[in-house]
Amino acid sequence: MDAAKAISLMAKNPEKDASILFQNDPDADWYPVAAVPTTCGTGSEVTGVSVLTIHEKKTKSSIAYRIFPELALADPKYLEHAPAKVLRNTAMDALCHLCESYINSSATDYSRMCAVKGLEVWSRSRAFLTDASAEADVQTCADLLRASTFAGMAIAQTGTSLPHGLSYGLTYYLGVPHGQACGQFLAGYLAEADPEDAAFVVKTAGFETLAELNDFFAASCGVVDVPEDTLGAIVAQLAANPAKLKNAPFAVDENVLRRIANHNHH
Ligand SMILES: [Fe+2]
Repeated sequence: MDAAKAISLMAKNPEKDASILFQNDPDADWYPVAAVPTTCGTGSEVTGVSVLTIHEKKTKSSIAYRIFPELALADPKYLEHAPAKVLRNTAMDALCHLCESYINSSATDYSRMCAVKGLEVWSRSRAFLTDASAEADVQTCADLLRASTFAGMAIAQTGTSLPHGLSYGLTYYLGVPHGQACGQFLAGYLAEADPEDAAFVVKTAGFETLAELNDFFAASCGVVDVPEDTLGAIVAQLAANPAKLKNAPFAVDENVLRRIANHNHH
């Protein structure tokens, strides 16, 4: 879906090269996009975001335009044949969107309305997500898809925060799937947040404690073993990009990022 948005822009501007994607040309136009999610993570069917890999910068970043799909065909039937591993990783992406949007300096009553509802719906699928032998039934697919769409509505308003900022390097350098890469840093992010807000998010997602949420991540996706130098590079890269730190509703410096990055590092 993210690629479709970039393709719609480039197809409408055939005289331009790919550099138009990151230039924010005020005259640029694009073809309307109809989005059909086939996983339960990005929420891209209801956001204007198109995240692409930029090899020169060794990371991922959104294009300079907000391209909201004209049409979102969010039908759980399209999830029924997705591999369970894909459902687990993308559901973790949706959980991160919900938590990062709720705990966000741009959060409003409207964005939190979407995040809270999304967390409630998401929590119904926890049993499936940790059971390696379980098959996703229609109801589970519907819950996962709805949760990811609510999560998309939430991040369309606030943007994501530090777990996503840290995740891109993990995906770029180590090829870790996006949801698993974000999940690696979720508990660390919540541990830095206002304790009352963090406890509310953890409870609404259906967990008793932050440790229980993190155990769920380990069981559902698996903790990533990140080499020390890679972790250092990822932290330094994010610390040097203040625009990517501003969504955290607390002061962030390299030490804070290191604590978040090390939360699941042994
Ligand atoms: Fe994401």
